Amino acid sequence: MASVSDLLTARLVTATGVDPELRPATKPQFGHFQSNVALRLAKQQGRKPREVAAQIVDELDVADLCEPVEIAGPGFLNFRLRTDVLASAVNAQLADEHLGVAQVDEPVRVVIDYSSPNVAKQMHVGHLRTTIIGDCFTRVLRAVGDEVVPQNHIGDWGRQFGMLIEQIQDESLDLDTLDLAGAEELYLRANAHFESDADFAERARLRVVALQGGDETTRAIWRRLIAISTAGFNRTYARLGVLLTDADIAGESSYNDMLDGICDDLQHRGIAVMDDGALIARVDGFDAPAILRNSAGGYGYDVTDLAALRHRVDDLGAGRLIYVTDARQANHFALLFAVSRKAGYLPSSVIAEHIGYGMVLGTDGHPFKTREGTAAHLDDLLDAAEQTASPEVALAAIKYADLSNQLQKDYVFDPVRMTATTGDTGPYLQYAHARVSQILRRALAEQGQDEDATGDWQVSVLAELAEQDLALSLTRFGEAVGEVAANLTPHKLCMYLYELAGKLSVFYEQCPVLKADGDVRASRLALCQATKDVLGRGLTLLGIPAPERM
Ligand code: ARG
Repeated sequence: MASVSDLLTARLVTATGVDPELRPATKPQFGHFQSNVALRLAKQQGRKPREVAAQIVDELDVADLCEPVEIAGPGFLNFRLRTDVLASAVNAQLADEHLGVAQVDEPVRVVIDYSSPNVAKQMHVGHLRTTIIGDCFTRVLRAVGDEVVPQNHIGDWGRQFGMLIEQIQDESLDLDTLDLAGAEELYLRANAHFESDADFAERARLRVVALQGGDETTRAIWRRLIAISTAGFNRTYARLGVLLTDADIAGESSYNDMLDGICDDLQHRGIAVMDDGALIARVDGFDAPAILRNSAGGYGYDVTDLAALRHRVDDLGAGRLIYVTDARQANHFALLFAVSRKAGYLPSSVIAEHIGYGMVLGTDGHPFKTREGTAAHLDDLLDAAEQTASPEVALAAIKYADLSNQLQKDYVFDPVRMTATTGDTGPYLQYAHARVSQILRRALAEQGQDEDATGDWQVSVLAELAEQDLALSLTRFGEAVGEVAANLTPHKLCMYLYELAGKLSVFYEQCPVLKADGDVRASRLALCQATKDVLGRGLTLLGIPAPERM
């Protein structure tokens, strides 16, 4: 479904031959859209801008869409949509299952790497952000018709398993009694033991060799530790209401069998070289090389990510790769992409993006910590928010606070401000949605219909400015979602929804709904229905629950 602004843009392109760069009008008295195309053309052609503007207006055929076009100031073109056109646009959106969100012509398979916590450690505040942001990307890209494959790159391999398993044996620990929090305490004990007891440290090293060599007893304990951890992660995912499942888990260990081959391939082609006993790959413009194999023969984070990338491109058929982690990993991913391009693992047809986010800060402006001063666990954050609000409202508060600023920025975790029901918060949007739902329920009840039905009202009269403003804002939903899908900027959707909720409240103040009669009443109810749909869908795309009653 082409939006009204797309139609208008197409007509202007026909009349002028250039992109009109149509923008929402900066003030209501300028109409709905404005363009500076006449000013730009005048400059190129060395003519008077108002003269060029007059000529464009002359040649432009938009009477079926707009009121007569106005020329303002030095030569801006102001467009005011006809109210019948605006009404039809909202009606079309009401009938469209995608609510005006344009579907891509050819779906792209997008692999998104997010959450990715580490085994035997609880998820901490950093994992909160990647999980929430990645979940939002998954929802938004699916909404435009792309095919999303989430990948949870959990840290399930590495030297730490040697000491974990030795510690379990030493303590004769019953794994049936161990949960994720217990596994994390075990980790701390094992670490202390490793530092203080050379004999234990040696056994831990041998245990790593046994694990890598596939020793069955060792592998069995390792698998139990993973199962205990993923059970804990899943509890947190359920609490967060994110879409990740066990099917999305592709841990570091799943790439073990590829690592030798990648090293051989890169060394053979001269992309990797031996350096002081280690195998490394250098790329121009980077200070440090990627380490493929260290001098002890061990494989690490870099080469595992190379293998994961190959798997995503070659086996999963990705056309776009997205990685969501802490901004501090920016260099790791820039280097990963550069080495992969150089090696031909990442063809130029595949887009690769790292989305790095900022830190979660406490109200004191320092990285969020628990009262004991340790890095806060994700569940502590959820608990903190739930102290001031119900679980659904707490989720809205946390997710909106996370998504409504530019992702790269740090944000302050302030439960009181985030759960406020006024201002630019998630709970405010939930209340706006619940309030408009309530009006619709009442209207249905008055008509003797089932409260859960969807009314079949149509927008017909848009006499009031507040109605027009709300209608226009509604028709911009598709644009807002499209922008987030293209640029991965969820804050733009947040801004849009906050603005829409603002227009809704002006509309309530100025336009009685249930007390109106006839066509005006039906038309206003249709606006309410369309607003409920958009607020509900928009919140869902952010991963925020949109309850009908609060
Ligand atoms: N496990 C890592 C961490 O907790 C994040 C992994 C991110 N994904 C990746 N493909 N490197 O910091």
